[in-house]
Amino acid sequence: MDDARQRAEEKETCPRCRLSRHQGVDALRTNSDVIEEIKSRIDIVDVVSRVVDLKKAGRNYKGLCPFHNEKTPSFVVSEEKQIFTCFGCGKTGDVIEFEKEYHGIDFMTAVEKLADECGVKITRRGGSEKERAALLEINRQAARFFYINMRSRPNPGMEYMRRRGLNQETMHAFGIGYADGSWDSLLKYLKQRGFEEEQMLQLGLVSKSRGSYYDKFRDRVIFPIRSTQNKVIGFGGRAIGDAMPKYLNSSESSIFKKKSNLYDLSLAKNAIGSQDCAILVEGYMDVIALHQSGIENAAASLGTALTEQQAALLKRYTKNVVLCYDADAAGQAAALRGMDILHRAGIKVRVMHVTDGKDPDEFIKKRGRAAFDALVDAALPFAEYKLKVLQTRFDLGETEGRIGFLEEAARVLNQLSPVEADIYIKKLSADYGISEQALHAQQEIRKSTPRTGRVRRGRTQQQSGLKPPEKSVLKVLMTDAAYLEQEPGIEKVFTSPAGVRIYQAIAAMHREGVPVTAVTCAERLSEEDAQMLRDALDGVLLGSVDQVLSDCLAAAEESRLREEEEKIIARLSLADEDDNDEEINRLTRRLMEVQKELTTLKAR
Ligand code: GTP
Ligand code: MN
Repeated sequence: MDDARQRAEEKETCPRCRLSRHQGVDALRTNSDVIEEIKSRIDIVDVVSRVVDLKKAGRNYKGLCPFHNEKTPSFVVSEEKQIFTCFGCGKTGDVIEFEKEYHGIDFMTAVEKLADECGVKITRRGGSEKERAALLEINRQAARFFYINMRSRPNPGMEYMRRRGLNQETMHAFGIGYADGSWDSLLKYLKQRGFEEEQMLQLGLVSKSRGSYYDKFRDRVIFPIRSTQNKVIGFGGRAIGDAMPKYLNSSESSIFKKKSNLYDLSLAKNAIGSQDCAILVEGYMDVIALHQSGIENAAASLGTALTEQQAALLKRYTKNVVLCYDADAAGQAAALRGMDILHRAGIKVRVMHVTDGKDPDEFIKKRGRAAFDALVDAALPFAEYKLKVLQTRFDLGETEGRIGFLEEAARVLNQLSPVEADIYIKKLSADYGISEQALHAQQEIRKSTPRTGRVRRGRTQQQSGLKPPEKSVLKVLMTDAAYLEQEPGIEKVFTSPAGVRIYQAIAAMHREGVPVTAVTCAERLSEEDAQMLRDALDGVLLGSVDQVLSDCLAAAEESRLREEEEKIIARLSLADEDDNDEEINRLTRRLMEVQKELTTLKAR
């Protein structure tokens, strides 16, 4: 969207308020607005630091948990994600949750307290929810008004939609309406129903000039924009024919956030879920035309570039998205931006462009559904699409061009998992005659100058060699391999690669009835493993056989639990912001179970 349009729309957002939006105090803001604003102004690290002594630990801060008694810090605050998590007691949440829990106050009191501190003004409690419902009701009535207008008598809107090939059923499904040419028909209609002009202005249904109000949408086809809860949150008004501007949208309001909604997810979400795939297009008309052709899993952003919020919203329904933007250069540029956003959100994204007509709407009308489906099937995965675009930018016949291409390709590869990167390295090498080694090297260079720090490996993969419990159990087994039958869980002790190999050799020999000694065993092992076994047998067994076995089994179980604990903590610290609540709660619950098991294990 161009800047002028953006500015014009923002001006409409709040015609009375000359302050910038962050300073403006709007009496009608909803709770969620206030909360967002508070969170943007307050840093959770500052708030927690007032009561907890926090120390920087990697990317996070650590301290003693204020919610349970502990001597070693397991309370972590992430500045980046603006959340806290205690790995000891499992409490987790954002800054508001922290205040609420710490001071033992309710949610709204915590919000008010923080709002007060950072200078965000809020309306009386409960007011904003009521206000929100009132605004939604106005929109519902307005949508009804437009819809009835469209249906009750012949009008240019209906004529235009017919000319564009839409049938009645489709128009009904999307609730498409018509705003007539008068300056005040909607205004009167809503006033008769007792709604205030100020509220209509809030929603951008009317405009105000020299003290008087007038309808904003005149002589336009109206596309109601619905939330996933099926509430009308705004409108898109398309000019009839070539009048300008082509689209007029409701202005942003407390109930209409263009950046966090998609058209028309209320209708498409079921198909998206059941097909586990969404098709993202650019225009309202694309969504509508595809729907009419039976492709019901399409959605569009609301006239702005795709946002992270929209990606997160989509991800609730599917992790597979096909981008189908317009065929022109602008569409291609938008696709490149959009795919990065989706990829970062953890969505598997593929890209296609229609091959006939300027957009999906034209394509499907000309070529039909089967041809469109074929294009969807042939859509290129993230890396392939990016590499294909790159290829057109460089002259691969020239050394310079090949180097440039190689450098850029490495950037793309670095956005992939190692397995995927490997596949593409092979492919690139085959397609462009660049050696795999050169590609690997280039990728390593890119990796060593990363934009984000790399996560250090945990202590799970240490030096090879046998672990102490493995050594002890080997001593036991060499005195009598029959302990294998007595202790069925014994193989769990062997977790190192060499340990597993030695154990398997011993078990096989025992099954075969071959006497198990250091010498006979060594014959079945590699020289290295045999040496490790000999080293393990050095020294005496500390304690009785039974004692050693039960200790070792407990130790094995403990180290398995520790490893799981470590993994969970690593995953928690990496948990996607958007998945926070559910994923963090699930992981935290599991973490608590693991830690409980560890405690009981130690108490034995
Ligand atoms: P048709 O041209 O009727 O086929 O509509 P379309 O939905 O295909 O629109 P297009 O591909 O030209 O634009 C994509 C989307 O960008 C539209 O659906 C709108 O959301 C938005 N858009 C396009 N033009 C304008 C405009 O003039 N103003 C605003 N605010 N948004 C626009
Ligand atoms: Mn179009």
